[in-house]
Amino acid sequence: MKLRVVILPGDGIGPEVTKQAVAVLSTVSDVCGYEFRFETHRIGGSAIEQDGTPLPERTLAACLEADAVLLGAVGDRRFDYLTGEKRCEAGLLALRQALGGFANLRPVKAHEAIADCSPLREDVTRGSDILIVRELLGGLYFGEPRELSDEGHAFNTMRYHKDEVERVSHIAFHEARRRKRLVTSVDKANVLETSQLWRRTVTEVAKEYPDVRLEHAYVDSFAMQLVTTPARYDVVLTENLFGDILSDEAAVISGSLGMLASASVGGKVELYEPVHGSAPDIAGKNLANPFGAIQSAAMLLRYTAGLYEESDKIMQAVERTLARGMVTQDLSGRKKRPAVPTDAIGQAVVDTVTDLLQMQMAYHAV
Ligand code: IPM
Ligand code: MN
Repeated sequence: MKLRVVILPGDGIGPEVTKQAVAVLSTVSDVCGYEFRFETHRIGGSAIEQDGTPLPERTLAACLEADAVLLGAVGDRRFDYLTGEKRCEAGLLALRQALGGFANLRPVKAHEAIADCSPLREDVTRGSDILIVRELLGGLYFGEPRELSDEGHAFNTMRYHKDEVERVSHIAFHEARRRKRLVTSVDKANVLETSQLWRRTVTEVAKEYPDVRLEHAYVDSFAMQLVTTPARYDVVLTENLFGDILSDEAAVISGSLGMLASASVGGKVELYEPVHGSAPDIAGKNLANPFGAIQSAAMLLRYTAGLYEESDKIMQAVERTLARGMVTQDLSGRKKRPAVPTDAIGQAVVDTVTDLLQMQMAYHAV
C-alpha cells in the first residue's frame, strides 16, 4: 500500500495538530509495512506572508498530484484587513473547489468518556452518532454574482443546480446504508426557491434507496431539534452554509469543536481537515486538541486508502485515550480533568495504535 499525502499545516494551531495526525499515520505505515509519503506545503496566512497569495501554485499543483490532502487550519488575524480572493479563507475555498470534493462528511459522536464536557445533559446526548453531509461547492459560498460595493451595499447569490443536489444526495444515501438508514434533509423550503429545488431533488433521489428512510426538516427548527434530541438522527444532509453553521452547533454534542473531523469526497483528490479553526489565542502553546486532526487522518485511511481496520484502530485508540482522561484544556469538563499537552496526547494515541495493530497482526498470524 503506497500513499502520497500532501500536508497543509496552515495557520494557528494547524501545524501542531497536523503534526500529531502525521505521527499517527506514520505509525500505521511503519507497523503495517506500508509506504506513506508526506510532503508539506503552505496555505493561508503563512502562504500570504511568503508567497503573496493564500494558495500558491506549487501548493495546488502538489495537492492535485497527491492521493489525499490533510489540512490543519486556515485563518490569520494579521491578514484580516484583506478582502476577496486575497483572504486566507479564500485560499481554502479555492483549494476545495480545485480538488472537487463536493460532499463534506462531518461525523459527530457523543463520546461516553467525555460526556460531562458537553453543556447538554448526558441523557440528551447519550448514543448520539450523526454524520453531517454538507454540500461544499455551491450555495452562497461560490454563487455569482457577488459584490461588496463602496457605496454601502453588498450581495451574495444562493444558487443550486439540481445536478449539484443530486450528487451530494447520492453520497448521503450511500453513507446511510452503512449506518442506521435514516437521512434528514435540512432546508428552508418554506421561504427559499433553492431549498424548494433541494427538497424536490432529494425526494427524487430517495426513490433509488427504498431501504433508507428520508425526512425533511426546516433549518430553524432543526437547529433546535439537533440539541434537544440529537440521538434520533443519523445522516443529516444539507446545503453549504446551513452545514457550516449546523456542524459547529453539533460540536456541542461531542463536547468540543476540537473533536470534529471531516472528509471532502467525490472530487479528484480527497481533502481531510478538522472542523475547528486556527484558534490563534492558543496557537504554539501545545494546548490545542489534536483529536479532530487525528480522526481526520483516520477518515483518510477509510475513504482514500480503503484501510478500514487501520482506520478503526485509530478511532479505538482515540476512545481509549479519552477514557484514560487524557484530554486537552477544552475537554476539562465538569470532572475538571487536568489539561494534557497536545504532543503527549498524540504520543498516547501513537502508542495505543501500535499496540492495537500489533495485536491484530499477531491474531491474523495464528
Ligand atoms: C469550516 C470553516 C470554513 C467554512 C472557513 C474557514 C472558510 O468555517 O470548514 O467550517 O466556512 O467552510
Ligand atoms: Mn465552519
